[in-house]
Amino acid sequence: MPVFSGRCYSNAKLIGKTAIVTGCNTGIGKETVRDFYRRGAKVIMACRNIDKAEAAKNDIEDSCKDLPEKGNLIVEKCDLSSLSSVREFTKKILNSESHINILVNNAGVMMCPKGVTEDGFEVQFGTNHLAHFLLTMLLLPCIRNSTPARIVTVSSAAHTRYDINFDDLNYENRRYNSAEAYSQSKLANVLFSRELAAKLKAHNIEGINTYSLHPGVIRTELGRHMDDVLFKGARRIIGFFFYPFFKSPELGAQTTIYCAVDDKCANETGLYYSDCVVKNPDRKALNDEYAKKLWEKSVELVKLGDFDPFTAVHSGVASK
Ligand SMILES: NC(=O)c1ccc[n+]([C@@H]2O[C@H](COP(=O)([O-])OP(=O)(O)OC[C@H]3O[C@@H](n4cnc5c(N)ncnc54)[C@H](OP(=O)(O)O)[C@@H]3O)[C@@H](O)[C@H]2O)c1
Repeated sequence: MPVFSGRCYSNAKLIGKTAIVTGCNTGIGKETVRDFYRRGAKVIMACRNIDKAEAAKNDIEDSCKDLPEKGNLIVEKCDLSSLSSVREFTKKILNSESHINILVNNAGVMMCPKGVTEDGFEVQFGTNHLAHFLLTMLLLPCIRNSTPARIVTVSSAAHTRYDINFDDLNYENRRYNSAEAYSQSKLANVLFSRELAAKLKAHNIEGINTYSLHPGVIRTELGRHMDDVLFKGARRIIGFFFYPFFKSPELGAQTTIYCAVDDKCANETGLYYSDCVVKNPDRKALNDEYAKKLWEKSVELVKLGDFDPFTAVHSGVASK
């Protein structure tokens, strides 16, 4: 267990608050949900596998059954490898929720074999970045009505390793490199979070803060594709040698929780965190022109069209 692992010590309660966490049937997303639930939040678990999500929900409820105050867990289908699933999910949420105070863009896939999402995007860029971009844009009118609100995007220190190749995002004209594709998607997470903060400021929208983060190296299911892309047994060997240095999922969720609830960062926005403190991301992630370019490309790829998330009105809850 790492000795210097950061922890969120905030006692903040989330009673009356609504949070959405993507990809939370396992790993650090599940621990993030457990924490928010303990603090009293209504947590919407946005997952692609409903059976796994229901099992996680039952486990969390069971582990908290003796607590006097707790929130409410709701499982909803949201498959981030399909933009139509993201649109379906947001439609349902916007029809049922009057406010969203915390959005955690947590779901992720790492070092997958070459593949594409339903919409034809390289699977890591499509899932980890584009789907979260669309999700955030579509929910923003409701989040604007829910201030103070926070949008937390789980990136990775892997964002430092490679660059984004805007000319060939989907690896159509070059050899596929799964580690590079993961890095590209995680760099996009940091750039997105920074540019969102800048755009909110430019639109004079106050009360919504954005955060991106590296959660640490954690014992989760994230390495599930390693045997396919490296060699058979790779996951087991890496796990064996590095086990003492891996965080538990509970510790791995601490920086996400810190960014989502702690008063200490309540007046910070657009920054990158690791172990519950602000860290400098890679130089590429600090390039404003680059962030703008990614934003424009993302608007085009997810087909946002005329929809302006900074001015669109949340029409309120249609049915309850
Ligand atoms: N673990 C680490 O060491 C580490 C380090 C740096 C960054 N991170 C980041 O932390 C985040 C959480 O990862 P984790 O370590 O907790 O990994 P994990 O245990 O594999 O959890 C990932 C979650 O994302 C979900 N997911 C994957 N594809 C999805 C899709 N298309 N639609 C909806 N949900 C999807 C998974 O659902 P299924 O179970 O249905 O696949 C799972 O719930 C990721 O963004 C990852 O990049 C992790």
